[in-house]
Amino acid sequence: MCGIVGIVGDKATAKAIVEGLRRLEYRGYDSAGMVLATNVGFEVKRIAQDTSSIAALSDWVNATTNSVKLSSAMGHTRWATHGVPSEMNAHPHLDCSGQFAVVHNGIVENYKEIREQLMALGHEFASETDTEVIVHLVEERYRLNNDVREAVTEAFDELVGSMAVVVMNLKEPETFYMMRRMAPLVIGTDDSSLFVASDIPALLDGVTKYFSVPEDALITGSVRHGKVVLEPLPETLEVEWDASKVDVGGYTDFMSKEIDEQPRALSDTLAGRVDRGGLISLDELNISPEELKTIHKIVIVGCGTSLHAGMVARYALEHFVRVPVEIEVSSEFRYRDPVLSPTTLVVGVSQSGETLDTMVALSEAKASGAKTMVVSNVVGSSMARMADAVLYTRAGPEISVASTKTFIAQIGALEILALYLADLKRTLFPAEVQELISKLNEVPEAVGRAISQIQEYEKTTQALLEYQRFYFIGRNVGYPVALEGALKLKEITYTPSEGYPAGELKHGPIAMIDDKAVVVAIASKSSLYEKVLANVEEVRARGAKVVIVANEAPVDSEVRGDEVFLVPRIHQLFSPMVDVVPLQVMAHYISVSRGLDPDRPRNLAKTVTVE
Ligand code: G6P
Repeated sequence: MCGIVGIVGDKATAKAIVEGLRRLEYRGYDSAGMVLATNVGFEVKRIAQDTSSIAALSDWVNATTNSVKLSSAMGHTRWATHGVPSEMNAHPHLDCSGQFAVVHNGIVENYKEIREQLMALGHEFASETDTEVIVHLVEERYRLNNDVREAVTEAFDELVGSMAVVVMNLKEPETFYMMRRMAPLVIGTDDSSLFVASDIPALLDGVTKYFSVPEDALITGSVRHGKVVLEPLPETLEVEWDASKVDVGGYTDFMSKEIDEQPRALSDTLAGRVDRGGLISLDELNISPEELKTIHKIVIVGCGTSLHAGMVARYALEHFVRVPVEIEVSSEFRYRDPVLSPTTLVVGVSQSGETLDTMVALSEAKASGAKTMVVSNVVGSSMARMADAVLYTRAGPEISVASTKTFIAQIGALEILALYLADLKRTLFPAEVQELISKLNEVPEAVGRAISQIQEYEKTTQALLEYQRFYFIGRNVGYPVALEGALKLKEITYTPSEGYPAGELKHGPIAMIDDKAVVVAIASKSSLYEKVLANVEEVRARGAKVVIVANEAPVDSEVRGDEVFLVPRIHQLFSPMVDVVPLQVMAHYISVSRGLDPDRPRNLAKTVTVE
């Protein structure tokens, strides 16, 4: 789970590589490095300084008066899998002769055998990484056949695992060899330069054409006499993002920017889904409406925040479409022997569209004959290409590791799916569907009203700063909100926090409640409102500090000293989209107040392309 960025041609500067790496930091940042192809050879720099590796790399670039003209350059930001984060283990890695340089994202599963074979042949390894075998393998194959393209292809064929790789050859520094297998790698070009990166935001600024590197194929990219040549020419990608969207703007961090962008993320996701005749449309649908009508079971898979969005949607899908909905963590689903059939729809929810566990879960579901769909924020992502159908969230790039705007956008997209299926299967009358659509279309404005309360939410959070244990409780759709609130808090403040169905309190968690605990109850007015408040009584009686997320302040909350996060009142099944806002703000405020970096929490990476 690492980030790759490379440039060949006029735009190849060390500074541009650092800028690209900054935009990929969400993929991991425990070490970083780069290789520059100068007229006297490769210059390599590797740094391992935890969260400040890229900043240190930037200092190095500024300090070494690097005005030398480069043919090409590539950089890497690492999130350690094999070998501790250290300078030695940071990429790029070079072969014994120093002719080839490699950056890699993913895991080479058979690296131990290959390493042993290569060592027996006399190769000397400088790191503990799985990546280093790639470059020595290329060296070895090249020694035998003297053809770089052949050597790289053969090496790639021998590697097992998921990976994106870029190889540079000192003898042709104007060329990149690029390959990927179940890991992302995209190419961008302008008139005179070629860019390659793990993700689109790292390519932006002046790129006029985008291409996706196909699965399991080698693409050679060169700039010769100022002309970009790609062989074979890969498929082009349509990209709607622009560079300003990956800039922090006037905000102190990306997370606060992304919290603020939520109404827009949701309205863009909902926009244009309903035509003038009132019909709902999905994005890329290679499943016929007739086939969808036969769906008898829906299984939702995802990880982290995306899983929580799926959990929220389950209530609407079951209520509106009247089909059973199972929900499961991708990493568990893929190793089960799930009962699937052609009438099962497996929906993968994944912001990045690259999370390995969700991707494998989907591909196995597809192989077993089920219909597959992905809800993703990244056009052309691996999962979007693999699934039978795609529903895009149009939230724009999300940079902060902890997801915010994509959570709300995912719920919005899944609600659209629920209404689409309900319309198709006639489990709701067309007029009911229309009414629900207009209610859904009011949600972005309601999210905006919640966001206008941010200062209030922060003031309320001040009373919680000293607490070190948090429990989040909710019922029905409030339950996944509780899970998401707890996840946000642990991700960016490292504070022990758990989410529970409110009714489960008595079965264990209540033993933990004392006057050092905070209990955050999701208690928007709904059919289960009174029941949640009864659970609140139980924890209040045991001394907990109570915080209530409510769309109407509960009677006596002030007298009782409870803290209240007020949110707008909307349809119960849509309410998680507003209820989650104060919880995001709370986690962010606690993180910043404790001097932490909310965008780059320790040990986490935004896109997890390993198991
Ligand atoms: C990581 C991130 C989470 C994210 C999860 C799933 O754990 O830190 O923020 O929710 O991956 O990612 P996906 O891209 O599949 O939604």
